[in-house]
Amino acid sequence: MNILILGSGGREYSIGLAIYKENAHNLYFMPGNGATDTLGININIKDYNELAVWAKDNSIDLTIVGPEAPLVDGVVDIFKENGLTIFGPSAAAAQLEGSKVYMKNILKKYNIPTAAFIETSNEKEAYDFIDTMTEPIVVKADGLCAGKGVIIAQSKDEAKKAASEMLSGAAFGDAGTSIVVEEYLDGYELSVFAICDGENYKVLPAAQDHKRVGDGDTGPNTGGMGAYAPTPLVNDEIYKKIEERVIKPTLKGMQQEGAPFEGVLFIGVMVVRGEPIILEYNVRFGDPECEILMPLLETPVSELFYKGATKQLDKLDIKIKDEFGVGVVMASGNYPYSSSTPAEIIVDKIVDNDLLQNSHISYAGVEKIDGKLMATGGRVLVCVGFGKSIKEARDRAYALCGQVHFAGKKCRSDIAYQALK
Ligand code: AMP
Ligand code: GLY
Repeated sequence: MNILILGSGGREYSIGLAIYKENAHNLYFMPGNGATDTLGININIKDYNELAVWAKDNSIDLTIVGPEAPLVDGVVDIFKENGLTIFGPSAAAAQLEGSKVYMKNILKKYNIPTAAFIETSNEKEAYDFIDTMTEPIVVKADGLCAGKGVIIAQSKDEAKKAASEMLSGAAFGDAGTSIVVEEYLDGYELSVFAICDGENYKVLPAAQDHKRVGDGDTGPNTGGMGAYAPTPLVNDEIYKKIEERVIKPTLKGMQQEGAPFEGVLFIGVMVVRGEPIILEYNVRFGDPECEILMPLLETPVSELFYKGATKQLDKLDIKIKDEFGVGVVMASGNYPYSSSTPAEIIVDKIVDNDLLQNSHISYAGVEKIDGKLMATGGRVLVCVGFGKSIKEARDRAYALCGQVHFAGKKCRSDIAYQALK
């Protein structure tokens, strides 16, 4: 097939790498990054209507959308109107991520377990609800805020201040003029992904992300500093509860809403005393979760996404490798505050055969400048290791990190700690 991947991060690189290794397809990236050009061809057509015309002219058989913004902007609708096959949710279904108010109302309407909340655009209503709560209190801006729209307030005053700053537009502009105020859930967090075709779904092994920049979950939130899967923190009972209480009612509910969900349903779960409670939905793969999940699939990734895009998931028997994956993000020195000043990336020649066969790099914030691969982003790349145990996979991921050099590099040293305690 001719396959087009939208996005430029490590997530899109990892989808591309998995498909590249199938040895059967031509890959295109829009816009891609400084390393995706070793897997396929980077193109640069930002307008979705023009891109759809290009896709038709170039006989693209399947388009895969990495990030949320094009989904919320309706790229899937535009491609479908042009008769193209594309894997991802419509703009209407992408509201599950685009609007926290929409998402919480769907969860409530279809009886899916989530934190008690109110949604409001009114300061007094927010204050009155906050007065009834015990701290910590969670305040969320409605719209997309690049992962920054959630405040966990330690006092009522702090919660009220956050609510006022969002509602006035001072904090996040229009994205904050509606808010969700909700109870704090104390448990452990999981990333669960369901590949959906509107009706049928396939669940991937549960992963854990590491959102804070520093070891021991300290410092500011980031896009994610590392991930591993499958996590032993999930047993069959929890998977079953997530399927019965969350995925099935969500797919049914979205059909009833007239916005059947096709694409990747990313379920942010907090497990509280053995019960999965939904924190949020995203409508795409997590990054860096994707970087470890793609290589764990034995089923060809292109087949999974093609069947997802053409309502044939019921005909697919998904196979997962009997292994663990651990991904360690190597970021620039000042991440998450700023990107790297361009710094050349040097990867030592790997002589250890075990390491060579059980690890690889997924490139993210990189550019080619004068033919050299340079770190230019916040999250620069992900070192991914595999093994028969989490420890083995983690050791390989860190061994690979030791082979990678660029000025200012940093990474967490405790990825997968919750599974290795
Ligand atoms: P969200 O953008 O909704 O995923 O929130 C970002 C992060 O804030 C989540 O990944 C959680 O770690 C944390 N968070 C969000 N909502 C809650 C909640 N109700 N209780 C505890 N932590 C939360
Ligand atoms: N790693 C979490 C996310 O992609 O939102």
